[in-house]
Amino acid sequence: MKLLVTGGAGFIGSAVVRQAIAGGHEVVNLDALTYAACLDNVASVADDPKYAFVKADIRDRAALDEAFADHKPDAVMHLAAESHVDRSIDAPGDFIETNITGTYNMLEAARGYWASMGNPDSFRFHHISTDEVFGSLPADPDIQFTEMTAYDPRSPYSASKAASDHLVRAWSETYGLPVVMTNCSNNYGPYHFPEKLVPVIILNALAGKPLPIYGDGSNIRDWLYVEDHAEALLVVLQKGELGRSYNIGGENERTNLELVQTLCSILDDIRPLAEGSYADLITYVADRPGHDARYAIDPKRISTELGWRPSVTVEEGLRRTVQWYLDNPDWWRALQNRDGVGTRLGVKA
Ligand SMILES: NC(=O)c1ccc[n+]([C@@H]2O[C@H](COP(=O)([O-])OP(=O)(O)OC[C@H]3O[C@@H](n4cnc5c(N)ncnc54)[C@H](O)[C@@H]3O)[C@@H](O)[C@H]2O)c1
Repeated sequence: MKLLVTGGAGFIGSAVVRQAIAGGHEVVNLDALTYAACLDNVASVADDPKYAFVKADIRDRAALDEAFADHKPDAVMHLAAESHVDRSIDAPGDFIETNITGTYNMLEAARGYWASMGNPDSFRFHHISTDEVFGSLPADPDIQFTEMTAYDPRSPYSASKAASDHLVRAWSETYGLPVVMTNCSNNYGPYHFPEKLVPVIILNALAGKPLPIYGDGSNIRDWLYVEDHAEALLVVLQKGELGRSYNIGGENERTNLELVQTLCSILDDIRPLAEGSYADLITYVADRPGHDARYAIDPKRISTELGWRPSVTVEEGLRRTVQWYLDNPDWWRALQNRDGVGTRLGVKA
């Protein structure tokens, strides 16, 4: 298949691009190269004849029409987005423009292209979204997000993603655009931009800096290794039922404090300090405004209907991730100079 992947120079998109190429697909990576992008993430496939790159902004409808006409994809995997909750608190307008208007442009460009091809049933528009659209769960482990959970977004980021999900459903129902949708839990792994929790903790620990825990660290997330997410996305694209959404989770619920403590014990093991533990650097800081208490995915639909389950436990995935950051200092050092990285964002409520 020829895939048009948006946001393929970001964290998850680049994992999708690398796996899709390895799986024999052709890939057109369309990305505006914002502060969050890094073309080194796809350096391993950049010279592959099955790979092409288009620098374009999803807010630019004409550029999208041109990309569809030039490359004639069989399917779209739409990942391009503003993705950092803390930045969405400080600058929500960027999230409205890219995540909502950008998705609208993608849908309209895809619809025009699909019509020009005679509306083939085989075309797919796969919209990649987050479990954050469902809001915040109570602690009861029997309550998880299913595909039927009502939307209840609580941050500018999750509200903009929720709006984009609604647009995609509307284009499926109203225009018959062949869509599939996924809502995934928190990812971690190699090439994670150094403003997100896992890389912040690893890199601060290596620099001997405080390890910031928002609030009391009791917020629970369902952690998924990024390579498992990319695999799940390719399964949904190829086997998912039209018009249907699939929740993707890691089956790995941890509090933020537990996650950071696990990272510290992995670092104590792989890169021991002369004395003490990295956990001694843990520091509690002001909570994020509106910080959701718990996210957890009920994985029944994707596991029973499509036979997909995550392959990596959080302990194993975090160990691989720590080792990757130790092995790739040139990658993260270059990104630490980018705007806003290393400073606390999202505290003005
Ligand atoms: N990171 C997570 O834990 C997580 C979990 C579930 C879902 N998601 C979703 O997965 C997708 C990818 O997330 P990520 O963590 O890889 O994000 P990221 O911030 O690492 O990458 C986003 C990519 O999109 C590109 N982009 C941003 N605005 C653009 C625009 N206007 N036009 C074209 N390209 C643009 C950026 O240049 C970047 O390469 C997002 O849609 C996000 O909502 C992320």
